[in-house]
Amino acid sequence: MAAGIDDITIYIPRLYIDAADFAKARGLDPEKLQKGLGVSQMAIVDTNQDPACLAANACLQIMQKNKLSPEDIGRLYVSTESSFDESKAMNSYVIGMLEQVYGQGAFEHCGGVETKFACVSGSYALYDNTNWIRAGEAEGKHALVVVSDIAKYDMGSSGEMTQGAGAVVMLLNDEPRLLAFDPKVTATSIKDEYDFYRPFGKETPIVHGQYSNLLYMIQVRKALEIYKKKALASGLMKLEPGETILDHMDYLNMHLPYSNMGKKALAYLVRHEWRQLPRWKKIIQEMGIPEPVPKDPRGTIESVLGDEEFMAKDHEFTKLFTKTREFQEVYEAKLASSLIASKMIGNLYTASLYLGFRSCLEFEYQKGIDLNGKRIGFGSYGSGSSAMVFSGTIQPQYEEIVKNMNLEAELAPRRKLTLQEYEILHENKLSPEESMLHTKREFVLVDVNTTVESRGERRYIFNE
Ligand code: CAA
Repeated sequence: MAAGIDDITIYIPRLYIDAADFAKARGLDPEKLQKGLGVSQMAIVDTNQDPACLAANACLQIMQKNKLSPEDIGRLYVSTESSFDESKAMNSYVIGMLEQVYGQGAFEHCGGVETKFACVSGSYALYDNTNWIRAGEAEGKHALVVVSDIAKYDMGSSGEMTQGAGAVVMLLNDEPRLLAFDPKVTATSIKDEYDFYRPFGKETPIVHGQYSNLLYMIQVRKALEIYKKKALASGLMKLEPGETILDHMDYLNMHLPYSNMGKKALAYLVRHEWRQLPRWKKIIQEMGIPEPVPKDPRGTIESVLGDEEFMAKDHEFTKLFTKTREFQEVYEAKLASSLIASKMIGNLYTASLYLGFRSCLEFEYQKGIDLNGKRIGFGSYGSGSSAMVFSGTIQPQYEEIVKNMNLEAELAPRRKLTLQEYEILHENKLSPEESMLHTKREFVLVDVNTTVESRGERRYIFNE
């Protein structure tokens, strides 16, 4: 049975900071953000928004757009790493908000949980719900998987330049118009790590930035190895001599904590895949420098990062490699379109990969490419850490959805924050009623209870 993504909708907060303003205020070269990281703007939440609001607004949009009633929805999952309760799941808040519009008890029949594993949990949620459909448990109903996050780092930290916020919701069913997931190839890797984590009660994460970058690439590569075995064993792909698995993916969508991380990860995977192929010898000859090897090739991530000579040479090699015609072709054809939205919005943690997917669809379609039957490979990563590699094929009815995508129009009514306003918001100095914007027809947070008996209870309204 086919199962996959029928439709996708995004909800992005209407406030943002400009990368150049931010760089100036922090004494950084704006080029570091714009060119080095690929960050132009970062979406910021208002005082009356939390990740549950973002998720509920995305869900309402997709339900209204598809004229769905709560009866049509069998499952509602929320994946997030911005959770504000250790017990009450975020999907319960989302259902509470949706029932303000659809009527109390309207979603009573519906199941679901909040899932957590840093930025990868949305991919696990998609996988579980796809299998719920494949198992014939859905009885004609759809599943909603919402990925929603506020990427917020300590002020003055190096992570602060990779912030953002937003939610992406995907409607899943057994007749998906957009993308059907390839069965029996989903691959995972997992390892107990401390590259990025957020202990109880702390609003911002503890991050080992360069360590997390390298770990991301290693973990995704490990999952890709397993995907490869599965894809070949299941007969989904057959490799001719001199081919790699990546040749059989028309597009690659990667987890994007910042847009250039997608390019870094692609270069890492391509190097790994091409190394054993005849084409690699030719590329090395053209580049004129050998591929560097760490002093201890079987060492730990720490030993590799501590090997300064290797790191410097590898950096130089990667820079040169990404400029080769061979890499540029892969980059432009398979990845570049998926990075456009990330540049304009920033990091969405769990939602980053799916914002990239949506960006890929819109901007590839705009090139006039017929997307029917194209295969998309997904490289999902969550710190802590786990990676997931899977794929899907674009379906014949995709145009019905993709032709109406217009990121510019959806983001248009945004307000640029001054650095002073951003810092006030960052330090949580204002209450929900002191919001910067007064949006209409959206769910907003009104109050978080501070009394002993009901501490933490949240109240939301739908702004008519
Ligand atoms: N002009 C142009 N480019 C410049 C420049 C300038 N003046 N100055 C620096 N650059 C380039 C650098 O060369 C580098 O590019 P390459 O990676 O291609 O070499 C890029 O800008 C970034 O520079 P640095 O690596 O020196 O930046 P940094 O160390 O100060 O911070 C970071 C980068 C580690 C990603 C940091 O922002 C961070 O910690 N972010 C949060 C953690 C994160 O995003 N990790 C990613 C993987 S983990 C994950 O994905 C989970 C998650 O969602 C958080």
